[in-house]
Amino acid sequence: MSNTIFAFGLGIGTQNKEGNWLEVFYASPSLNTEKSTVDALLESTNYEGGNSTLELDESDLNRLHMSLLKAGNIEQAELASRLKASTKPVILCVLATDEAPTNPAEVYLKLQLISHRLVKPHNTVLDGMFGLLINTAWTSEGPIDVRELADRQLSARMEGRTIEVFSVDKFPKMLNFVVPTGIRVGDAARVRLGAHLAEGTTVMHEGFVNFNAGTLGNSMVEGRISAGVVVGNGSDLGGGCSTMGTLSGGGNIVIAVGEQSLIGANAGIGIGLGDRCIVESGLYITAGSKVAVLDENNQVVSTVKARELSGQSDLLFRRNSATGAIECKTNKNAIALNEMLHAHN
Ligand SMILES: CC(C)(COP(=O)(O)OP(=O)(O)OC[C@H]1O[C@@H](n2cnc3c(N)ncnc32)[C@H](O)[C@@H]1OP(=O)(O)O)[C@@H](O)C(=O)NCCC(=O)NCCS
Repeated sequence: MSNTIFAFGLGIGTQNKEGNWLEVFYASPSLNTEKSTVDALLESTNYEGGNSTLELDESDLNRLHMSLLKAGNIEQAELASRLKASTKPVILCVLATDEAPTNPAEVYLKLQLISHRLVKPHNTVLDGMFGLLINTAWTSEGPIDVRELADRQLSARMEGRTIEVFSVDKFPKMLNFVVPTGIRVGDAARVRLGAHLAEGTTVMHEGFVNFNAGTLGNSMVEGRISAGVVVGNGSDLGGGCSTMGTLSGGGNIVIAVGEQSLIGANAGIGIGLGDRCIVESGLYITAGSKVAVLDENNQVVSTVKARELSGQSDLLFRRNSATGAIECKTNKNAIALNEMLHAHN
């Protein structure tokens, strides 16, 4: 059967008082949806093709349930049936093609495709998403438009409750939407929706993972993975280390870290790393830093800007503790991950 659309999701949404969507929770977003399922959407709902976001009522869901059953898509059919009992608005978001999103429901579907590991970071178009999202207070009483928070706080107090505000952000915690298999996260607040945590990833309390970014395999993350940064299998980010993002003055190089590399504690990179690289703890390599390239005998062979070494494999970067110069050598001891750390994910 041919795949006819990019993705779709049945979700539960939250609106602000003006009726704009703050967020949508998709229980099981679908990628590369097959024709029979698309036909079921077309025949049982008001979906007429293209990229479209619709609110479904109970009778829509009833018809959708039957059509999906007929199409043999049991998982989505059961979901449609279950959502009939939702006291919150139910949304059908269909993305026939992977275009720049046009509303929050589409943004949330795309972020969840990444966090559900259906799509890798950078593999879906997110252009303009920031402007579509409403700044939201994520609270013990659910998401609240930040402009409506004070009023809700007063009402809650009058009824003897305190609304606990966890964050004010356009993005929620990833784990409140999906907990992918085989991961550990020390502090849920440190991983934003839209992060991609591969099986075998541990994010310790100091670690952080932004949207459209994350890991592709085993990884111990004790440092920060900025928006857009992707870390390869077997690479570790030491405590408090930093990967430079592109959002605020970090240049426009999208940083990637290859496999089996280590960024030391409190170190940082403004360039990409290849495989089996080490950055000494405490050393921040910016793209324009002058780096002395050393031979086997620690003699300087050349001096280059760090960006020229971006993405190369088997390098060890250190700051010469006697002279302060940044040096780069061949990394002879490709790091071995501590198997014990990853064994219990
Ligand atoms: C850069 C690093 C990998 C070097 O470690 P190493 O390969 O074990 O190297 P060693 O400390 O054994 O040193 C090898 C040689 O390089 C020299 N050397 C090491 N660091 C140096 C520096 N910054 N400047 C000058 N010389 C240095 C050593 O003195 C030694 O010289 P010698 O051969 O004359 O005795 C290590 O210092 C490091 O920063 N590791 C990161 C660990 C980390 O942060 N993990 C995450 C925890 S959360």
